[in-house]
Amino acid sequence: MKLEQIGLIGCGAMGSALARGFTKKGDLNPSLIWVYDRNEERALKLSRELGIKAAASLEEAVPFSRHLLIAVKPQDIDGLLHMLKGLVTPGQLVTSIAAGVTTTTLQKGLGPESKVFRLMPNTPCLLGEGAIGMSAGKNASEEEREEVMALLKPLGLTIQVPEKLMDAVTGLSGTGPAYVFLFAETLIDAGVTVGLNRDVASKLVVQTLIGAARMLQESNIHPAELRNNVTSPAGTTCAAMQVLEETGFRSSMIKAVIEATRRAGEL
Ligand SMILES: NC(=O)c1ccc[n+]([C@@H]2O[C@H](COP(=O)([O-])OP(=O)(O)OC[C@H]3O[C@@H](n4cnc5c(N)ncnc54)[C@H](OP(=O)(O)O)[C@@H]3O)[C@@H](O)[C@H]2O)c1
Repeated sequence: MKLEQIGLIGCGAMGSALARGFTKKGDLNPSLIWVYDRNEERALKLSRELGIKAAASLEEAVPFSRHLLIAVKPQDIDGLLHMLKGLVTPGQLVTSIAAGVTTTTLQKGLGPESKVFRLMPNTPCLLGEGAIGMSAGKNASEEEREEVMALLKPLGLTIQVPEKLMDAVTGLSGTGPAYVFLFAETLIDAGVTVGLNRDVASKLVVQTLIGAARMLQESNIHPAELRNNVTSPAGTTCAAMQVLEETGFRSSMIKAVIEATRRAGEL
């Protein structure tokens, strides 16, 4: 039997984001993608929205799948692995996004021969602009790692990291969109404070974030150099940077990431 389907288990916030990312750019054939959720209506709604299949049961869909992506809460993992144990074979690649659930736990639940992967994605995956950390279990070959990386391509950028650094990925890019949203919210408020109306401030801030991010991505120049390039002697940027240094902007950001990483390890 040819295993070519891709199954996504759990259609909540993150499972839906992944399904939307997989279908957005049209790189994957939607007829090969199925979703399953113990809340049947949730899977049906997503399948209708994206033109993919909704499986009525795991037994119905798992045996035909090359890839299984697990997007349930960490506390639901054990129960799900128990249900999957008799269904999954070593010819299948199982990838979990559950925070804090190790490849060892996944392998223990699915059997010693199982090939497992662990991801830490973030929500921009739904636009194909996610940042994803990936670690492979010990049974996965180099080709299988490459295969999972290729599968994830429509979701954004995937970087392989040693599993011990997964908490750091969680603290940096997993939590990262929230840092950017807070930064944007603050800048918009600042724009209003200096006299712009909220709509104008909001449009200017969003485009500034997009433009600056694209400069970082496309120029390959260090952020400090890009910043120096827009800092004229005794100018406005100098005045702003002085305040940010005095008020501890950098140390606040670094402490926030350290604290998020520590918390990820606790969960
Ligand atoms: N949200 C994020 O930004 C983010 C980022 C990175 C990683 N993650 C990880 O993503 C995972 C999912 O998070 P989420 O926020 O998407 O959770 P969620 O919104 O609660 O979605 C999980 C879905 O899976 C269903 N489910 C639970 N057990 C199941 C089972 N045995 N079979 C089928 N469906 C089952 C749940 O149904 P019920 O409603 O009945 O429980 C729910 O519909 C978590 O492990 C989290 O650590 C999340």
